[in-house]
Amino acid sequence: MEKQINELKDACLSAVKQAKNVHELQEIEVKYLGRKGELTIILRGVKDLPDDQKPVIGKLGNIVKTELENAVANQKTKLQAKELEESLKDEDFDITAPGPEIRVGHIHPLSQTQYEVEKIFNSMGFMIMDGPEAESEYYNFEGLNIPSWHPARDMQDTFFIKNKRDKKHGKMVLRTHTSPVQVRTMEKYGAPLRIIVPGQVFRNEATDASHDAAFDQIEGFMIDKDISLSHLKGVLKEFLTRLFGKEVVVRFRPGYFPFVEPGLEVDFSCLICEGKGCRVCKKTGWVEFMGAGMIHENVLKAGGIDSKKWQGWAFGFGLTRLVMMRHGIDDIRHLRSGDLRFINQF
Ligand code: PHE
Repeated sequence: MEKQINELKDACLSAVKQAKNVHELQEIEVKYLGRKGELTIILRGVKDLPDDQKPVIGKLGNIVKTELENAVANQKTKLQAKELEESLKDEDFDITAPGPEIRVGHIHPLSQTQYEVEKIFNSMGFMIMDGPEAESEYYNFEGLNIPSWHPARDMQDTFFIKNKRDKKHGKMVLRTHTSPVQVRTMEKYGAPLRIIVPGQVFRNEATDASHDAAFDQIEGFMIDKDISLSHLKGVLKEFLTRLFGKEVVVRFRPGYFPFVEPGLEVDFSCLICEGKGCRVCKKTGWVEFMGAGMIHENVLKAGGIDSKKWQGWAFGFGLTRLVMMRHGIDDIRHLRSGDLRFINQF
């Protein structure tokens, strides 16, 4: 038996050595070590040997098995390397040639401007807040001094969410502006506050070149002691001048929003014609920019802030409009189209 195993070992080793390729080697492996291989059959027969032979032959068989397995593995590595080398010989393979170009994406124009706005306000001590897009009617309207009977509800065509109610605050809507985050933030942090809120808002609009059912706004507000509209003018002038990289003039006109008193419309001097009048500013020299005003005391009250001690202003502008103006984009629908021919221009 011992002799048989040793003969088998020699035969197998020399066959392995002579194998010319991986395929041949595999056949040898099957012949000797496979499930029905010669060594396997011998080892299976050990149990029928006389008791004194069993441990001797069993041990030898296992040693040989390991030795053969190692020999096969070594030879396999050698043959594979050889095969690779040979296959490369015929190929025109230039290891120094540049690889395929990897295409890197870039930041969407809306986000580019949003990040710039955030950076400027951040440097003036404003914190950046977020709020839910599916909002309760309370935060979107009532908390902002717009009761359900108020005609100002019609200023914004709202998407109502069917069969969904907020546990505490009733019916749900897709927020029509970023203003609901005002009361949310006041409740959470109290006064003083310096906040901006970039975010998506939704209105049930018929879409055209200048209207989309979803667009982006940036809300901003500041609450502290002895705050007045002159602080607002200063902050806005600084913000716009830094954003556009040239001196911008800011103009206030009276406006109406239920959540501010007094309320304002804010314009800035047209950067295209520098006030002379052009298509962008509709020949007025001014670009309508945002709504703003001193935060109404009912809103401060809703946010749990004592209006005798604190006051502040708030503003909200369309980031989408700002981006369109900056880049001369003439159709709002391009921005969310996902069309790479458009996106790749920025
Ligand atoms: N939320 C208003 C809008 O969407 C803008 C605004 C914000 C006005 C804050 C005044 C104060 O039109």
